[in-house]
Amino acid sequence: MVGIFCCILKEGNAAPVIHNALKRLEYRGYDSVGEATIHKDKLYIKKDQGRIDDLHLLRNLDDLPGRIGLGHIRWATHGAPMQVNAHPHFDCDMNVAVVQNGIVENYLEIKEELEESGHVFKSKTDTEVIPHLIEDKLKKGLSFIDATRETLKRLEGSFAVAIVYAKNPDKILCAQKENSLTIGMGDNAMYCSSDIPTFLPMTKKAVTIESGELIILDENKYEIRRFADGSQVLREPKIIDWALEVAEKEGYPHFMLKEIHAQPSCLRSTVRLQKEYLELMATFLDRAEELFLVACGTSYHACLAASYMFSKMASLSTHPIYASEFIQQVGKSVNINSTILAVSQSGETADTLAAVDYARNRAATILGLTNIVGSTLTRVSRAYICQQAGPEIGVAATKTFTAQLSVMAQLALMLAEKRGKLSHVEMEQFGALLKQMPDVAKKIIQAQENTVAKIAKRYRDKPYFLFLGRGISLAVALEGTLKLLETNQIPSIACPAAEIRQGIINIVQPGIPAIFICPKDDTHKKIIDDIREIKALGASIIAVIEEGDEEIKAIADDYIEVVKDIPEFLSPIQCIIPLQLFAYYMATGRGLDPDRPRHLTKAVTVK
Ligand code: F6R
Repeated sequence: MVGIFCCILKEGNAAPVIHNALKRLEYRGYDSVGEATIHKDKLYIKKDQGRIDDLHLLRNLDDLPGRIGLGHIRWATHGAPMQVNAHPHFDCDMNVAVVQNGIVENYLEIKEELEESGHVFKSKTDTEVIPHLIEDKLKKGLSFIDATRETLKRLEGSFAVAIVYAKNPDKILCAQKENSLTIGMGDNAMYCSSDIPTFLPMTKKAVTIESGELIILDENKYEIRRFADGSQVLREPKIIDWALEVAEKEGYPHFMLKEIHAQPSCLRSTVRLQKEYLELMATFLDRAEELFLVACGTSYHACLAASYMFSKMASLSTHPIYASEFIQQVGKSVNINSTILAVSQSGETADTLAAVDYARNRAATILGLTNIVGSTLTRVSRAYICQQAGPEIGVAATKTFTAQLSVMAQLALMLAEKRGKLSHVEMEQFGALLKQMPDVAKKIIQAQENTVAKIAKRYRDKPYFLFLGRGISLAVALEGTLKLLETNQIPSIACPAAEIRQGIINIVQPGIPAIFICPKDDTHKKIIDDIREIKALGASIIAVIEEGDEEIKAIADDYIEVVKDIPEFLSPIQCIIPLQLFAYYMATGRGLDPDRPRHLTKAVTVK
């Protein structure tokens, strides 16, 4: 996944246009690049792992003939970053070329079928099933359009694709399902891409493609059909008046806000994770005699939440531990019976890798959860899961945190099933609720963003904040504090709510904001007592509550409502969203740039 682009020019060479378009996606990070063009009924290809400029220096990306073609920059989700896994992918006869952004969930089943009927696959990607499936249908006598339509109907998942066929060299077919795709209408060319910035310098006329639609692109026109039934859709182009820099953020003022808003779609990708990966990981976790959850920063907070999930759902006790303390705290006890689940968005955080390295040398089993396939963590792990959140540009982790939580929640459910800790009915109920989390996240953003922005405005001049939670919500309190610290440089303290009585209570003064995370789990009654105690000292209470929690509404100065009846193991996914928005609106309200917090970098690669 990452970005696709294709174009048909009335005249001239497509390759330099594709090359420049892909360059405009460079800011997001990627691991491989590829292009294919058609000239005289034949495909021409350049693709490899690595940076665009390096590949261009070596192989001249502009030197491909033909006025029609497609390109891709890849962020690996299936298959390591290697030349063979770079897009485009092809059929056996090298006539069909496909680039894809997204995930084809049922690719293993399709691949098996196609292999049985003689198709030979070169890559480990999900995408490669698409050209082979089209080839299969072309050989049965279907036209390019019908073969593609039939293929698209077979694919499960969320994807955007562009397809060319050397024997039909005047058309490009594109389609999307729950993914983004936009047509750009130039005067002398037609473009289609997952990202508007790719064609913005050439044209501002754009047509948005909806889920389930197939586009037939000619050099001067486009046709939209629904791929389920072939029915035609009429849609006029609109003018995009974004500057290039705004377009990169899809119209949001900052990457942080864009990424907060991307959470419903990221969660959708994580709940579609291949069951085989989760199964394998859950088997390792289940067998672990001693399990350490090792990470830094936000990823550590995900581990902390996971320790509650694993314990409460599956009766599995774990040790969440800061990677930087791992060797000092438990190093000497690590041995062949120890299992380390290292969690790192980047897969490159120095302290996490040092802990992993140390544990490997003591023969422990290493498991990884990361956002970057091909990162060091994936190379040193016995088994790993890619959290499928896509590249995160904002320094403050947002969408990658909720994606980590969603993966951990799925593992907790699987562990519970393996260990017979939940009834069949509970398993089904929890599984169904997990699948609803993308919609829950969407609802919270839609319903609460304005409220949160107003609250942030009211409190933005306060000198410090307290974040308090009990149970699994402690992880949310810690993460909420980290977001505020990172983006606002406001000192704030997070701790288990009961711990306030151990000293923190001394700094509570009238008007100091105390943010309580209060889902209706079995800590609810106690957190109400905590709120009353702090309120009696004059603090201003801001509470994250479930919809309709009248008891807390009556005592809080301000409240933000999340969705009710979400089980405890899923509640951090929803409760953190208002706190991410709070940090964002505090920062912008105080004139700070939330995308560029001072002194911070995206990956901490020094120990
Ligand atoms: C917080 C943040 C950092 C990272 C930490 C670990 O918003 O981004 O605290 O969470 O540096 O990074 P990874 O997960 O890449 O190991």
